[in-house]
Amino acid sequence: MPTPLVAGNWKMNTTVTEAEALAASLRRELDGLPGVEVALCPPFVSLERVARALEGSSLKVGAQNMHHEDKGAFTGEVSPTMLQGMCQIVILGHSERRNLFGETDELVNRKVRKALEVGVRPILCVGERLEERQQGREEAVVSQSLSACLDGVASPDGLPHGMVVADEPVWAIGTGLAATSEQAQAMSALIRRLLADRYGRQGAEAVPVLYGGSVTPANVAEFVSQPDIDGALVGGASLDAQQFAEIVRITAKTRSSPLVRLG
Ligand code: 13P
Repeated sequence: MPTPLVAGNWKMNTTVTEAEALAASLRRELDGLPGVEVALCPPFVSLERVARALEGSSLKVGAQNMHHEDKGAFTGEVSPTMLQGMCQIVILGHSERRNLFGETDELVNRKVRKALEVGVRPILCVGERLEERQQGREEAVVSQSLSACLDGVASPDGLPHGMVVADEPVWAIGTGLAATSEQAQAMSALIRRLLADRYGRQGAEAVPVLYGGSVTPANVAEFVSQPDIDGALVGGASLDAQQFAEIVRITAKTRSSPLVRLG
């Protein structure tokens, strides 16, 4: 099983000074904690200062988006080469990018391929909307989206080295209404099966599948004790150092117990 990963998506929050202070306190809380990888994803303008604040620690830095071209006339965009060397991780295809900024699976696919090419680990986000779940279409929607986003994604050995997938049901994001652990496990197991169809069992086992959507210290153990949930992508609670640190510690502790995948 992959090392569990907990990533904090700070979204459009924190000034540069606040971001630096939050990174510094999380470093004090979490540096060197075994059994879990931790990534902080601040806004672009704070990446460099956060990277410096975390330098030499076990905490990683991630971006929340990127363009798929190396450079050019793309006003307001940030390129993969600008992130290289500064970020180890990039969140791609977040539902806020899709729903508020019109990103399609095809565009997300280009970004994922580019991220892997330049050696920045993509956290590929997929997830259904409320009405799609109410219509019982959540598995079809996520399968189709994942398949489109992974089109042509593989290393020369056929394995998806460096990939991370996050199941983020849109209705659970920022609402306080998290999925149940059964719902999240079912979706993560589906994602794992789809990865296995594409990359074989070994390839699928190596990809961390995260749950995201109203994760808190109070509910994270329920998620990460599920066999197919290898960590969390945390929004609101990642802006509070104590809460985020607690989520990370609970994840490390829970995932250190032996688990058997069901699929
Ligand atoms: P919340 O944890 O605030 O629900 O946000 C989840 C999310 O979108 C993480 O990417």
